[in-house]
Amino acid sequence: MLAAVEPALSGSDIRTVDDIAARMEFAPRHRWLLRQWLRALAAHGSVEGDSDRGYRYAGPVREPARQDLVEVCADLGYSRPLATFLQASDDHLTELASDTMRLQELLFPNGDMTTAEAAYRDNLSSRYLNLAAGRAVADLVDGLRGDRSPVRILELGAGIGGTTDDVTAALSGLPVEYHFTDVSTFFLEAAKSRFADYPWMRFGLVDMNADLGNQPRYDIVIAANVLHNAYDIGVTLGQLHDLLNPGGAVVVIETCHAHCEQLTSVHFLMSPGSDQPHAGLTDVRAGTDRIFLTEDEWREQLVASGFTPELVLPEADHPVAMLDQRVFLGIRPLSRLDPPDAATGKE
Ligand SMILES: C[S@@+](CC[C@H](N)C(=O)[O-])C[C@H]1O[C@@H](n2cnc3c(N)ncnc32)[C@H](O)[C@@H]1O
Repeated sequence: MLAAVEPALSGSDIRTVDDIAARMEFAPRHRWLLRQWLRALAAHGSVEGDSDRGYRYAGPVREPARQDLVEVCADLGYSRPLATFLQASDDHLTELASDTMRLQELLFPNGDMTTAEAAYRDNLSSRYLNLAAGRAVADLVDGLRGDRSPVRILELGAGIGGTTDDVTAALSGLPVEYHFTDVSTFFLEAAKSRFADYPWMRFGLVDMNADLGNQPRYDIVIAANVLHNAYDIGVTLGQLHDLLNPGGAVVVIETCHAHCEQLTSVHFLMSPGSDQPHAGLTDVRAGTDRIFLTEDEWREQLVASGFTPELVLPEADHPVAMLDQRVFLGIRPLSRLDPPDAATGKE
Protein backbone atom coordinates (compact mmCIF):
# COMPACT_ATOMS: atom_id res chain seq x y z
CA MET A 1 0.00 0.00 0.00
CA LEU A 2 2.74 2.45 0.98
CA ALA A 3 4.78 1.49 -2.09
CA ALA A 4 1.84 2.51 -4.30
CA VAL A 5 1.17 5.81 -2.49
CA GLU A 6 4.76 6.87 -1.74
CA PRO A 7 5.68 8.28 -5.20
CA ALA A 8 2.69 10.64 -4.97
CA LEU A 9 3.97 11.93 -1.59
CA SER A 10 7.52 12.71 -2.68
CA GLY A 11 9.23 15.54 -0.80
CA SER A 12 8.12 16.98 2.50
CA ASP A 13 5.09 18.89 1.17
CA ILE A 14 1.64 18.31 2.56
CA ARG A 15 -0.59 17.06 -0.23
CA THR A 16 -4.35 17.01 -0.38
CA VAL A 17 -6.15 13.74 -1.00
CA ASP A 18 -7.26 15.08 -4.40
CA ASP A 19 -3.67 15.91 -5.28
CA ILE A 20 -2.47 12.44 -4.25
CA ALA A 21 -5.35 10.86 -6.17
CA ALA A 22 -4.49 12.85 -9.31
CA ARG A 23 -0.78 11.96 -9.07
CA MET A 24 -1.67 8.28 -8.68
CA GLU A 25 -4.32 8.45 -11.42
CA PHE A 26 -6.75 6.96 -8.91
CA ALA A 27 -10.09 6.34 -10.66
CA PRO A 28 -12.82 8.57 -9.18
CA ARG A 29 -14.98 5.59 -8.18
CA HIS A 30 -12.13 4.12 -6.11
CA ARG A 31 -11.14 7.34 -4.31
CA TRP A 32 -12.98 6.39 -1.14
CA LEU A 33 -10.45 3.56 -0.96
CA LEU A 34 -7.50 5.95 -1.20
CA ARG A 35 -8.92 7.86 1.78
CA GLN A 36 -9.06 4.54 3.65
CA TRP A 37 -5.48 3.71 2.69
CA LEU A 38 -4.24 7.09 3.90
CA ARG A 39 -6.04 6.64 7.22
CA ALA A 40 -4.47 3.16 7.58
CA LEU A 41 -1.01 4.50 6.69
CA ALA A 42 -1.46 7.32 9.21
CA ALA A 43 -2.43 4.77 11.87
CA HIS A 44 0.80 2.87 11.07
CA GLY A 45 2.87 6.08 11.27
CA SER A 46 4.09 6.14 7.69
CA VAL A 47 2.15 9.29 6.78
CA GLU A 48 1.07 12.25 8.91
CA GLY A 49 -2.10 14.28 8.58
CA ASP A 50 -5.76 13.73 7.87
CA SER A 51 -8.18 14.12 5.00
CA ASP A 52 -8.99 17.75 5.91
CA ARG A 53 -5.39 19.00 6.26
CA GLY A 54 -3.77 16.68 3.72
CA TYR A 55 -0.97 14.17 4.21
CA ARG A 56 2.82 14.19 4.34
CA TYR A 57 5.18 11.23 4.05
CA ALA A 58 6.58 10.33 7.50
CA GLY A 59 8.63 7.17 7.06
CA PRO A 60 8.70 3.65 5.72
CA VAL A 61 6.86 0.66 7.08
CA ARG A 62 8.54 -2.68 6.61
CA GLU A 63 7.14 -4.18 3.43
CA PRO A 64 6.94 -7.95 3.95
CA ALA A 65 8.86 -9.92 1.35
CA ARG A 66 6.84 -12.32 -0.80
CA GLN A 67 7.95 -15.20 1.39
CA ASP A 68 6.72 -13.35 4.46
CA LEU A 69 3.22 -12.87 3.10
CA VAL A 70 2.81 -16.56 2.36
CA GLU A 71 4.11 -17.42 5.83
CA VAL A 72 1.90 -14.86 7.52
CA CYS A 73 -1.08 -16.21 5.61
CA ALA A 74 -0.21 -19.77 6.60
CA ASP A 75 0.00 -18.69 10.26
CA LEU A 76 -3.47 -17.16 9.96
CA GLY A 77 -4.88 -20.35 8.46
CA TYR A 78 -5.17 -18.82 4.96
CA SER A 79 -4.52 -21.21 2.09
CA ARG A 80 -1.82 -20.68 -0.55
CA PRO A 81 -4.26 -19.58 -3.32
CA LEU A 82 -5.48 -16.83 -1.00
CA ALA A 83 -1.90 -15.73 -0.24
CA THR A 84 -1.11 -15.75 -3.97
CA PHE A 85 -4.20 -13.64 -4.68
CA LEU A 86 -3.31 -11.09 -1.98
CA GLN A 87 0.23 -10.84 -3.36
CA ALA A 88 -1.09 -10.43 -6.92
CA SER A 89 -3.46 -7.64 -5.78
CA ASP A 90 -0.52 -5.96 -4.10
CA ASP A 91 1.62 -6.32 -7.23
CA HIS A 92 -1.12 -4.72 -9.37
CA LEU A 93 -2.25 -1.97 -7.00
CA THR A 94 -1.57 0.93 -9.35
CA GLU A 95 -3.52 -0.75 -12.19
CA LEU A 96 -6.38 -1.62 -9.85
CA ALA A 97 -6.46 1.95 -8.49
CA SER A 98 -6.52 3.48 -11.97
CA ASP A 99 -9.20 1.00 -13.12
CA THR A 100 -6.99 -0.34 -15.89
CA MET A 101 -7.35 -3.74 -14.23
CA ARG A 102 -10.43 -5.13 -12.49
CA LEU A 103 -10.05 -7.17 -9.33
CA GLN A 104 -12.33 -9.83 -10.82
CA GLU A 105 -9.46 -10.74 -13.18
CA LEU A 106 -7.42 -11.81 -10.14
CA LEU A 107 -10.26 -13.25 -8.02
CA PHE A 108 -11.94 -15.23 -10.82
CA PRO A 109 -9.15 -15.78 -13.40
CA ASN A 110 -10.86 -17.11 -16.57
CA GLY A 111 -14.03 -17.66 -14.52
CA ASP A 112 -12.25 -20.06 -12.15
CA MET A 113 -13.56 -19.98 -8.56
CA THR A 114 -10.58 -21.58 -6.77
CA THR A 115 -9.23 -18.27 -5.46
CA ALA A 116 -12.65 -17.05 -4.34
CA GLU A 117 -13.24 -20.38 -2.58
CA ALA A 118 -9.93 -19.92 -0.78
CA ALA A 119 -11.07 -16.46 0.32
CA TYR A 120 -14.61 -17.28 1.42
CA ARG A 121 -14.62 -21.00 2.24
CA ASP A 122 -11.25 -22.70 2.63
CA ASN A 123 -9.61 -20.76 5.42
CA LEU A 124 -9.66 -21.13 9.16
CA SER A 125 -11.96 -18.21 9.90
CA SER A 126 -14.46 -19.06 7.13
CA ARG A 127 -14.55 -22.70 8.18
CA TYR A 128 -15.33 -21.68 11.75
CA LEU A 129 -17.96 -19.11 10.73
CA ASN A 130 -19.68 -21.32 8.16
CA LEU A 131 -19.86 -24.26 10.57
CA ALA A 132 -21.27 -21.95 13.25
CA ALA A 133 -23.84 -20.58 10.78
CA GLY A 134 -24.80 -24.12 9.73
CA ARG A 135 -25.31 -25.14 13.35
CA ALA A 136 -27.36 -22.01 14.09
CA VAL A 137 -29.61 -22.57 11.04
CA ALA A 138 -30.13 -26.25 11.86
CA ASP A 139 -31.10 -25.36 15.45
CA LEU A 140 -33.53 -22.73 14.18
CA VAL A 141 -35.11 -25.19 11.75
CA ASP A 142 -35.45 -27.75 14.52
CA GLY A 143 -37.22 -25.20 16.69
CA LEU A 144 -39.54 -23.96 13.92
CA ARG A 145 -40.44 -27.25 12.20
CA GLY A 146 -43.39 -27.96 14.54
CA ASP A 147 -45.22 -24.83 13.30
CA ARG A 148 -43.84 -24.54 9.75
CA SER A 149 -43.07 -27.39 7.48
CA PRO A 150 -41.14 -27.00 5.32
CA VAL A 151 -39.17 -24.21 6.98
CA ARG A 152 -38.48 -21.61 4.30
CA ILE A 153 -34.92 -20.34 3.99
CA LEU A 154 -33.64 -17.50 1.81
CA GLU A 155 -29.90 -17.13 1.27
CA LEU A 156 -28.84 -13.73 -0.08
CA GLY A 157 -25.56 -13.16 -1.95
CA ALA A 158 -24.83 -16.89 -1.73
CA GLY A 159 -22.02 -16.51 -4.28
CA ILE A 160 -19.59 -19.40 -4.40
CA GLY A 161 -21.76 -21.25 -1.87
CA GLY A 162 -19.14 -21.47 0.86
CA THR A 163 -21.68 -20.94 3.63
CA THR A 164 -24.30 -22.97 1.73
CA ASP A 165 -22.00 -26.02 1.86
CA ASP A 166 -21.97 -26.10 5.64
CA VAL A 167 -25.60 -25.08 6.07
CA THR A 168 -26.87 -27.77 3.68
CA ALA A 169 -24.73 -30.39 5.43
CA ALA A 170 -26.24 -29.39 8.79
CA LEU A 171 -29.78 -29.51 7.35
CA SER A 172 -29.61 -33.14 6.29
CA GLY A 173 -32.99 -34.82 6.92
CA LEU A 174 -34.73 -31.62 8.08
CA PRO A 175 -37.86 -30.30 6.29
CA VAL A 176 -36.70 -27.18 4.43
CA GLU A 177 -37.21 -25.22 1.25
CA TYR A 178 -34.02 -23.33 0.41
CA HIS A 179 -33.76 -20.41 -1.98
CA PHE A 180 -30.16 -19.91 -3.07
CA THR A 181 -29.94 -16.40 -4.51
CA ASP A 182 -27.38 -13.92 -5.73
CA VAL A 183 -27.35 -10.69 -7.70
CA SER A 184 -25.20 -12.38 -10.37
CA THR A 185 -26.15 -15.26 -12.72
CA PHE A 186 -22.46 -16.25 -12.78
CA PHE A 187 -22.84 -17.85 -9.34
CA LEU A 188 -26.29 -19.32 -9.94
CA GLU A 189 -25.17 -21.51 -12.83
CA ALA A 190 -22.30 -22.97 -10.81
CA ALA A 191 -24.54 -23.51 -7.80
CA LYS A 192 -27.18 -25.37 -9.82
CA SER A 193 -24.73 -28.15 -10.62
CA ARG A 194 -22.95 -28.03 -7.28
CA PHE A 195 -26.15 -28.45 -5.23
CA ALA A 196 -28.01 -30.62 -7.75
CA ASP A 197 -28.45 -33.38 -5.14
CA TYR A 198 -30.79 -31.23 -3.03
CA PRO A 199 -34.33 -31.41 -4.46
CA TRP A 200 -35.49 -28.81 -1.93
CA MET A 201 -33.14 -26.15 -3.28
CA ARG A 202 -34.25 -23.43 -5.72
CA PHE A 203 -32.08 -20.83 -7.41
CA GLY A 204 -32.83 -17.25 -8.37
CA LEU A 205 -31.65 -13.71 -8.86
CA VAL A 206 -32.25 -11.38 -5.92
CA ASP A 207 -30.70 -7.93 -5.59
CA MET A 208 -31.04 -7.07 -1.92
CA ASN A 209 -30.88 -3.37 -2.78
CA ALA A 210 -33.86 -3.61 -5.15
CA ASP A 211 -35.91 -6.75 -4.61
CA LEU A 212 -36.47 -7.33 -0.89
CA GLY A 213 -39.80 -5.52 -0.88
CA ASN A 214 -41.21 -8.05 -3.40
CA GLN A 215 -40.15 -11.28 -1.72
CA PRO A 216 -42.52 -13.87 -0.26
CA ARG A 217 -42.33 -14.70 3.44
CA TYR A 218 -39.45 -16.71 4.84
CA ASP A 219 -38.57 -18.18 8.22
CA ILE A 220 -34.81 -17.76 8.02
CA VAL A 221 -32.59 -15.42 6.00
CA ILE A 222 -28.88 -16.23 5.63
CA ALA A 223 -26.60 -13.40 4.54
CA ALA A 224 -22.89 -14.24 4.55
CA ASN A 225 -20.46 -11.47 3.64
CA VAL A 226 -23.09 -9.64 1.62
CA LEU A 227 -25.06 -7.24 3.85
CA HIS A 228 -22.24 -4.67 3.77
CA ASN A 229 -23.23 -4.18 0.11
CA ALA A 230 -26.50 -2.62 1.32
CA TYR A 231 -26.90 0.96 0.16
CA ASP A 232 -28.47 1.67 3.55
CA ILE A 233 -28.13 -1.03 6.19
CA GLY A 234 -31.11 0.22 8.22
CA VAL A 235 -33.39 0.02 5.18
CA THR A 236 -32.16 -3.47 4.26
CA LEU A 237 -32.46 -4.87 7.80
CA GLY A 238 -35.93 -3.32 8.07
CA GLN A 239 -36.98 -5.09 4.84
CA LEU A 240 -35.52 -8.37 6.09
CA HIS A 241 -37.45 -7.98 9.33
CA ASP A 242 -40.66 -7.45 7.38
CA LEU A 243 -40.22 -10.44 5.09
CA LEU A 244 -39.56 -12.82 8.00
CA ASN A 245 -42.34 -14.64 9.77
CA PRO A 246 -42.53 -13.76 13.48
CA GLY A 247 -40.16 -16.07 15.34
CA GLY A 248 -37.95 -16.22 12.25
CA ALA A 249 -34.34 -15.11 12.16
CA VAL A 250 -31.46 -13.63 10.20
CA VAL A 251 -28.10 -15.39 10.30
CA VAL A 252 -25.43 -12.90 9.25
CA ILE A 253 -21.70 -13.35 8.68
CA GLU A 254 -19.75 -10.11 8.48
CA THR A 255 -16.24 -8.74 8.81
CA CYS A 256 -16.22 -6.00 11.46
CA HIS A 257 -12.91 -4.33 10.70
CA ALA A 258 -11.17 -3.88 7.33
CA HIS A 259 -7.62 -5.19 7.54
CA CYS A 260 -4.97 -3.76 5.20
CA GLU A 261 -4.98 -6.84 2.98
CA GLN A 262 -8.70 -6.28 2.36
CA LEU A 263 -8.20 -2.57 1.63
CA THR A 264 -5.73 -3.51 -1.11
CA SER A 265 -7.73 -6.40 -2.60
CA VAL A 266 -11.41 -7.32 -2.21
CA HIS A 267 -12.44 -3.77 -1.25
CA PHE A 268 -12.00 -2.81 -4.92
CA LEU A 269 -15.18 -4.84 -5.51
CA MET A 270 -17.08 -2.37 -3.32
CA SER A 271 -16.59 0.65 -5.56
CA PRO A 272 -19.87 1.55 -7.21
CA GLY A 273 -20.51 1.36 -10.95
CA SER A 274 -21.27 4.61 -12.77
CA ASP A 275 -25.04 4.42 -12.14
CA GLN A 276 -24.93 3.17 -8.53
CA PRO A 277 -24.74 4.90 -5.15
CA HIS A 278 -21.92 4.02 -2.82
CA ALA A 279 -22.85 1.58 -0.04
CA GLY A 280 -23.38 3.29 3.31
CA LEU A 281 -23.80 6.91 2.20
CA THR A 282 -27.01 7.32 4.21
CA ASP A 283 -26.49 4.98 7.14
CA VAL A 284 -24.23 4.60 10.17
CA ARG A 285 -21.21 4.50 7.81
CA ALA A 286 -21.94 7.94 6.32
CA GLY A 287 -18.83 10.13 6.08
CA THR A 288 -16.44 7.38 7.17
CA ASP A 289 -15.67 5.66 3.82
CA ARG A 290 -16.11 2.41 5.75
CA ILE A 291 -17.82 -0.57 4.16
CA PHE A 292 -17.80 -2.75 7.25
CA LEU A 293 -19.81 -2.01 10.38
CA THR A 294 -18.24 -2.73 13.75
CA GLU A 295 -19.59 -5.52 15.94
CA ASP A 296 -21.33 -2.96 18.17
CA GLU A 297 -22.84 -1.24 15.14
CA TRP A 298 -24.24 -4.53 13.87
CA ARG A 299 -25.86 -5.23 17.23
CA GLU A 300 -27.30 -1.69 17.33
CA GLN A 301 -28.59 -1.89 13.76
CA LEU A 302 -30.21 -5.27 14.41
CA VAL A 303 -31.96 -3.91 17.49
CA ALA A 304 -33.00 -0.70 15.68
CA SER A 305 -34.59 -2.84 12.95
CA GLY A 306 -36.64 -4.87 15.43
CA PHE A 307 -34.42 -7.93 15.83
CA THR A 308 -33.29 -9.44 19.10
CA PRO A 309 -29.57 -10.29 18.79
CA GLU A 310 -29.31 -13.79 20.26
CA LEU A 311 -25.82 -14.91 19.47
CA VAL A 312 -22.52 -13.45 18.32
CA LEU A 313 -19.60 -15.81 17.57
CA PRO A 314 -16.69 -16.20 18.03
CA GLU A 315 -16.55 -14.87 21.57
CA ALA A 316 -13.88 -12.23 22.27
CA ASP A 317 -11.35 -14.67 23.78
CA HIS A 318 -11.58 -17.20 20.93
CA PRO A 319 -8.36 -17.34 18.80
CA VAL A 320 -10.35 -16.78 15.56
CA ALA A 321 -11.82 -13.54 16.98
CA MET A 322 -8.63 -11.63 16.06
CA LEU A 323 -9.61 -11.90 12.37
CA ASP A 324 -12.63 -9.69 13.15
CA GLN A 325 -15.25 -11.80 11.43
CA ARG A 326 -18.47 -12.64 13.23
CA VAL A 327 -21.67 -14.65 12.96
CA PHE A 328 -24.73 -12.76 14.20
CA LEU A 329 -28.10 -14.31 14.89
CA GLY A 330 -31.05 -11.90 15.09
CA ILE A 331 -34.55 -13.11 15.94
CA ARG A 332 -37.71 -11.41 14.73
CA PRO A 333 -39.69 -11.60 17.98
CA LEU A 334 -43.19 -13.03 18.18
CA SER A 335 -45.22 -9.92 18.80
CA ARG A 336 -48.81 -9.27 19.73
CA LEU A 337 -48.75 -6.43 17.21
CA ASP A 338 -48.45 -8.97 14.39
CA PRO A 339 -51.80 -10.05 12.92
CA PRO A 340 -52.88 -13.65 13.69
CA ASP A 341 -52.26 -14.89 10.15
CA ALA A 342 -48.78 -13.34 9.93
CA ALA A 343 -47.09 -16.73 10.18
CA THR A 344 -48.39 -17.71 6.78
CA GLY A 345 -49.12 -14.60 4.78
CA LYS A 346 -48.03 -11.05 4.10
CA GLU A 347 -49.04 -8.40 6.59
C1 LIG B 1 -18.11 -11.60 -0.65
S1 LIG B 1 -19.15 -12.56 -1.63
C2 LIG B 1 -19.80 -13.70 -0.43
C3 LIG B 1 -20.26 -14.99 -1.03
C4 LIG B 1 -20.82 -16.03 -0.04
N1 LIG B 1 -21.97 -15.55 0.67
C5 LIG B 1 -19.76 -16.46 0.94
O1 LIG B 1 -19.65 -15.88 2.02
O2 LIG B 1 -19.03 -17.40 0.60
C6 LIG B 1 -20.49 -11.42 -1.84
C7 LIG B 1 -21.62 -11.95 -2.68
O3 LIG B 1 -22.69 -11.03 -2.60
C8 LIG B 1 -23.22 -10.84 -3.89
N2 LIG B 1 -23.84 -9.51 -3.92
C9 LIG B 1 -23.25 -8.30 -4.05
N3 LIG B 1 -24.17 -7.32 -4.05
C10 LIG B 1 -25.37 -7.93 -3.90
C11 LIG B 1 -26.71 -7.44 -3.86
N4 LIG B 1 -26.99 -6.14 -3.97
N5 LIG B 1 -27.72 -8.34 -3.71
C12 LIG B 1 -27.43 -9.67 -3.61
N6 LIG B 1 -26.19 -10.18 -3.67
C13 LIG B 1 -25.17 -9.33 -3.82
C14 LIG B 1 -22.04 -10.99 -4.83
O4 LIG B 1 -22.46 -11.32 -6.15
C15 LIG B 1 -21.26 -12.11 -4.15
O5 LIG B 1 -21.67 -13.37 -4.58
